[in-house]
Amino acid sequence: MTRVLPMPVREDGLPDRVTIYEVGPRDGLQNEKAIVPLDVKAEFIRRLLASGLPIVEATSFVHPRWVPQLADAADLVSDLDLDGPAPLPVLVPNERGLDRAIEAGCRHIAVFASATETFAARNLNTTVEEQFAMFEPVVRRALDHGIDVRAYVSMCFGDPWEGAVPVEQVVAVGSRLLDLGASELSLGDTIGVGTAGHVGALVAAFGEAGVGVDRLAMHFHDTYGQALANAYAALRHGITTFDASAGGLGGCPYAESATGNLATEDLIWMLDGLGIEHGVDLDAVVATSAWMAERLGRPSPSAVVRALT
Ligand code: HMG
Ligand code: MG
Repeated sequence: MTRVLPMPVREDGLPDRVTIYEVGPRDGLQNEKAIVPLDVKAEFIRRLLASGLPIVEATSFVHPRWVPQLADAADLVSDLDLDGPAPLPVLVPNERGLDRAIEAGCRHIAVFASATETFAARNLNTTVEEQFAMFEPVVRRALDHGIDVRAYVSMCFGDPWEGAVPVEQVVAVGSRLLDLGASELSLGDTIGVGTAGHVGALVAAFGEAGVGVDRLAMHFHDTYGQALANAYAALRHGITTFDASAGGLGGCPYAESATGNLATEDLIWMLDGLGIEHGVDLDAVVATSAWMAERLGRPSPSAVVRALT
């Protein structure tokens, strides 16, 4: 049998190159029922880096009781090359998390906010307003240490307790995080309910508020099978950074309706077809996801991984 690869056909108006921000080791493994051993996590990250992924979110310095799957964050990070060419960001919710990340030698962190009250309470034990007071000293102290700060906003499209989320509400939260000093904003469709038109409306609303696409990344979950269509819509609106998870692992333990992220392999397949550069070796990521699926004891949900293995 001949292996058929996507035929690259460039479309006017799409970017030449995108950055894939890999979240599998963090968003993927935070959601696994079984706790993945530290050496498997470290090997997962090393393999992802070897496949050419330019940035790999490694773990979270959150409360170990809240996310026991990532309680080994400090030990894991000490096993990784934090001075290598690819940043290995970690999630940090508060000053205690920042202290732990600094002690571990991390150079890149990400804070994570909520656009809605219910998720702020459930995921962070705060209100929408209080979360900024929690993040302010984190961002300030991180920047003082020369640590780069990304900021997530969760529930940017819909919230399982509050329904559809108005774009203005998301823009208000996101703008405040950028004002605190975050270098990039990742807009999370935590439960995967977003659709292509809504993506365009959200990006346009940020634009009207003075936040250009160069400061935005998109973070899609694939609960309703819309992640790739949403990524295409975002490309058409000029977005050039996409979060994705090897093999489509992922979810959020504090939003039960969340399933896996946009699979890195599915994104790469589409980008290859559009002739958009990304610098990642598809076969190497597929092999890594197949290897990880064996360790997790179930097949990858990624269509491309299934097709190629
Ligand atoms: P809390 O219980 O309100 O914490 O949790 P607290 O500030 O009241 O502190 C209570 C105790 O916890 C204290 O210890 C603290 O020192 C300790 P004690 O004095 O009682 O001995 N503590 C910590 N220990 C270790 N590391 C820390 C830490 N903080 C406090 N960082 C907290 C508040 C924010 C900590 C908690 O709610 C939490 O850890 N939440 C994290 C939830 C999470 O990780 N969710 C998944 C990631 S978000 C996501 O997946 C969405 C995303 O992918 C985008 C998308 O899809 O939308 C990013
Ligand atoms: Mg997520």
